[in-house]
Amino acid sequence: MNFINSMLEAVGSTPLLKLNKIGRGLGADLFVKLEYLNPSGSYKDRMALAMVEAAERGDTWNGRKLASGGTVCDSSAGNTAPALSFVCACKDIKAKIAVYRPMLRGDSARLKIASAFGSDVCESSLPEQYLSAEQSEAFKDENNDLTYIVAGKMHSSELERNHDDVIWLDQIYNPYNYLGQKEIGNEIFDQLDGKVDAFGCSVGSGATLLGTCLAFREKGLTPQITYGVVPYGSEVYMQLDKDECGRNEFHHSDIMRRLAKAMGLVKWTTEKSIIDVMLEAGYPDLFFRITTEEARAMANRLCSEEGIYCGMSSGANVAVACKIAERLGKGKNVVTVIVDRRDRYLGEYPNDVYIV
Ligand SMILES: Cc1ncc(COP(=O)(O)O)c(C=O)c1O
Repeated sequence: MNFINSMLEAVGSTPLLKLNKIGRGLGADLFVKLEYLNPSGSYKDRMALAMVEAAERGDTWNGRKLASGGTVCDSSAGNTAPALSFVCACKDIKAKIAVYRPMLRGDSARLKIASAFGSDVCESSLPEQYLSAEQSEAFKDENNDLTYIVAGKMHSSELERNHDDVIWLDQIYNPYNYLGQKEIGNEIFDQLDGKVDAFGCSVGSGATLLGTCLAFREKGLTPQITYGVVPYGSEVYMQLDKDECGRNEFHHSDIMRRLAKAMGLVKWTTEKSIIDVMLEAGYPDLFFRITTEEARAMANRLCSEEGIYCGMSSGANVAVACKIAERLGKGKNVVTVIVDRRDRYLGEYPNDVYIV
């Protein structure tokens, strides 16, 4: 007999696919880790499971322990909402997801998926709730998405503060986010017998890039190139000076800390974020800014040429992987990630926009 007892056992162990058509003639061989095959449709299943299991052990930022029947919360407009909801559905745990409504451009399938898994999905508080009129004026030219995100985190931190049975998972700072993603690196290492010459992926929290690279480091593997990717025009946590940046040309967004300070989100002003840990650990070597058009064109090719029904950030990942494969040349292996399924964007982005 060969069966599993819980859908949680279906998380991970994803295939690694060699891109024989898109990769043809590029020089190096191109491989993609098919993370969209995780049960809720993205690689976030891994981190959601790791963060919830840590909370069950009481391994949280404030030592609070998740009891059976307890509640976890966080804010998300992306893949964390379905993933966390999926994990909680499989366990006897409730999830409250606060959503940055202004960041969604219409009907979000990701929130429908989260609700289908039984999560309590609500709108996150807006920045005006935490900023005075003068402060709002001072931040009016800053990245709007970041302003909503920090307000959403304030909302989650207040939920935790006001309810003894609620744990705020805080995915942007929670080390179990990148520790959960480490398994991606362990699996890639085994699948390629340790021969990885370049690895990179889109950076939101930074957890996938950091976790994968740390797994390689622990196994004594140092790829020649590690790279991060961000969408052109919506650099949320990272700021890039130009479209391709070396080590001294990309920076952690300082606006994030200033907003956290202004809104009173103390944890975000005193602790290290995952991006801080990633930069201190020396990753990545390069950062690329990719336009929606480039990401879309490659995601469409992944669909029509390789049969991979993926979202735009996967397209961005592969678009950069192709550039790296051309640079490295024959005999090298370039690896990146297929992050999620495209159908979760159809209501909002019928024309396919690259977001992380
Ligand atoms: C579509 C998509 N791409 C990329 C990322 C970035 O992943 P990470 O947070 O591990 O850096 C996310 C995470 O939110 C995502 O949802």
